[in-house]
Amino acid sequence: MSIIKANSYNIYIGEKSFDALNTFLNKNKYSHYYILCDEHTFEFCLPTLLFHAPLLNEAEIIELESGEDKKTLETCLQVWGALTDTGADKKSLIINLGGGVISDLGGFVASTFKRGIDCINIPTTLLSMVDASVGGKTGVDFEGIKNHIGTTAEPKGIFVNPTFLETLSERQIKNGFAEIIKIALIADDVFWKTIMKLKTTKEFSSEKIITKAIELKNSIVKKDLHENNLRKSLNFGHNIGHALESALIKQNKDVLHGEAIAAGMIMESEIAQSLKRISKKEQKEITDYIRSIYKNIKITKDTESQLLKYILHDKKNEGDDLCFALPKGIGAYELYCGVSIDLIKKAISNY
Ligand SMILES: NC(=O)c1ccc[n+]([C@@H]2O[C@H](COP(=O)([O-])OP(=O)(O)OC[C@H]3O[C@@H](n4cnc5c(N)ncnc54)[C@H](O)[C@@H]3O)[C@@H](O)[C@H]2O)c1
Repeated sequence: MSIIKANSYNIYIGEKSFDALNTFLNKNKYSHYYILCDEHTFEFCLPTLLFHAPLLNEAEIIELESGEDKKTLETCLQVWGALTDTGADKKSLIINLGGGVISDLGGFVASTFKRGIDCINIPTTLLSMVDASVGGKTGVDFEGIKNHIGTTAEPKGIFVNPTFLETLSERQIKNGFAEIIKIALIADDVFWKTIMKLKTTKEFSSEKIITKAIELKNSIVKKDLHENNLRKSLNFGHNIGHALESALIKQNKDVLHGEAIAAGMIMESEIAQSLKRISKKEQKEITDYIRSIYKNIKITKDTESQLLKYILHDKKNEGDDLCFALPKGIGAYELYCGVSIDLIKKAISNY
C-alpha cells in the first residue's frame, strides 16, 4: 500500500487501503456513518466495502440517481433532509463511495451540514481516483453552470482501491486517463515518457500509474489549495475542453469530461506551439498520442461559436485578457494571459 500525505489527511492506495480504512474508523469514534452512493456504486462497490469494513454495516445508506445532471442543489436538499431525519450530528461521518459526482456533492453536503462535518472519499472511477476526490474542491452545478456553487473543504482521508475499477467500462477508464495525460504534460516529463508507452485501458489504470498521478496532483494542491497560482496549471486543456463539454451537453450530445479535455489538450497544444511554449515536435507527440486513444469530436460552425462564448467567460480570464494554462516544454507550465481569439479560432479549425 502507498500512503501519500496531503495537507491535513492521508491518501491510501492499494488493496490494503481497506485496512487503513478500518484503522481510521476504529480510531475516530463517529456517532453515525452515512454512505453516499449512486445506483451503480450501490450495486458494484457497496457489497465489497461492507465486506471489508464490517463496522460500516451499521451505516445509513443514501442512494442517489447517477449522472452529472443530478449534481444539483435539489439532490443536496435530499441528502441534507436524510441526514436531518435520521438524527445526524456534528460527530457523523459521510463516506463518499463513487465517482466525481458523488465526491463533489457529498463533500459539499458535508462541508455545509451543521457548518461542516467530516467526510472521507472512496473513489470508484479512474477520474475520481486521480483527480476529483483529491484536493478538496467540492460543489454542484447551478443554472447549467458547472461547479458554480461549492466550497474548498478537504476530506479526512482518501482510500483508493483500484480493484473497484474492474466493473468500470473502457470508455470511463479513458475518461479518467485524460486527466493523467494532463498531469504528466504539465508536471513531469519522465512520467509523460512512461505514459506514452501505455496502450491498453488495463495499463492506463494500473496501481502504479494511479499512484504517480495522485502524487503529482497532491503536490500541486499542497502548495496552492485555493488556486491562487500553481493549481491553475491543472486547467491545461480545460478552457477549450470545458467549453466544448458545455456546448455539446447543451446540444444533448453524448460526451464525457475526459473526452472533451482530450480534444481541448490537442487544441491548446497548438496554441502553446504557436506561442513558442512547446516545439512542433512536442506538439506532434502530444497530438499523436491523444489521437491514438480518443475519437475525434466533430465541431460544427454552430458549436464553434458557442465554444467561443464559453471561452470568453472562463473563470481564469483576467479582465479582458484570455488566460490559458499551457505547458512550457513538457513537464512544466505557465499561465499565459493574452491568448488572441484568432489563435483560438485557428486551433479549433485545425483540430
Ligand atoms: N473536485 C474536483 O477537483 C474535480 C476534478 C475533476 C472532476 N470533477 C467532477 O467529477 C465529475 C465526474 O466524475 P466521474 O467521471 O467519476 O463521474 P460519475 O461520478 O458520474 O461516474 C461515472 C459513471 O460511472 C459509474 N460508476 C462509478 N463507479 C463505478 C464502478 N466502480 N463500476 C461501475 N460503474 C461505476 C457512476 O455511477 C456513473 O454512472 C464531474 O462532475 C466533474 O465536475 C471534480
